[in-house]
Amino acid sequence: MNETVTTHQSEDDPRNADIRIWIDGTLHHRDAARVSVFDSGFMLGDGIWEGLRLYDGRWAFLDDHLDRLFEAARAVDIDIGLDRDGVMSALEETRAANGMETDAHARLMVTRGVKARPFQHPALSQQGPTVVILMEHSVPRLPRPIRLATVPHIRGLPMTQDPKLNSHSKLNCILACIAAEKAGADEALMLDIHGFVNTTNACNFFIVRRGEVWTSTGDYCMNGITRAKVIEVCRAAGIPVREKNFSLVETYGADEAFLTGTFGAQTPVSEIDGRTIGTGEIGPITTRIRELYKDLVASGGRA
Ligand SMILES: Cc1ncc(COP(=O)(O)O)c(C=O)c1O
Repeated sequence: MNETVTTHQSEDDPRNADIRIWIDGTLHHRDAARVSVFDSGFMLGDGIWEGLRLYDGRWAFLDDHLDRLFEAARAVDIDIGLDRDGVMSALEETRAANGMETDAHARLMVTRGVKARPFQHPALSQQGPTVVILMEHSVPRLPRPIRLATVPHIRGLPMTQDPKLNSHSKLNCILACIAAEKAGADEALMLDIHGFVNTTNACNFFIVRRGEVWTSTGDYCMNGITRAKVIEVCRAAGIPVREKNFSLVETYGADEAFLTGTFGAQTPVSEIDGRTIGTGEIGPITTRIRELYKDLVASGGRA
């Protein structure tokens, strides 16, 4: 009954046992898909990634994902070795090789490549980058809403490891998630440096209070594409939405809470630190936002 649920849970799909994975221009069966033990990503978490979803033959919000990918690559000084068209054709090649038409999730990973020696200096990454596209058939399926626990791990300042970087190294988030799991929850609710509620270890976080939708200012969290789209659909539909600082007191007292991310779209939250949020089930505004988001995806991203 207290079994952990992860926000990235999906229906079992036997086709995933035979997926083809794109590595530097070549497709490999998953059992044969390998990168070097000298790879910068394996050795140091030195890389960046994007998660994308395929709905009805189309990668949702592809331009936004490509913008974020190339911005991150520039920030960490990795030359992806492909332009936007090159990335799109690699995605298409992988999609076609796997016969995926809808309900697929892609993890597109770029590392600094294979190092000459097992040390940190980026100059030692002499063969690269390594680019991998891992695509799975995936229909998100959670047995119940998510339970969160607040943890001591915070979202840092931009000058340490900017939380806006989708870096391979996710150790801060993983430690947060472990702490939450040990506290009996599924995922961690993380505060910012001032103690305001910010985000979870893997998703952005929203609450609904008295008909208003609130999320953090965005200063210390991933610039989530789903987060931005939720704000956009709320504005277009006349649902009051605010990016603001708020505390745990206001969070425990919320009528609804939900997470956002490309994988799960909007995931309801039932409980935070042992307090039931609202009825403990998905609320009416979360349900409405889910429908609006689905319509936005179906429209190809035009609200
Ligand atoms: C820490 C974190 N927050 C939020 C998100 C959700 O972002 P998006 O909506 O762009 O998938 C992600 C996904 O990469 C993430 O790693």
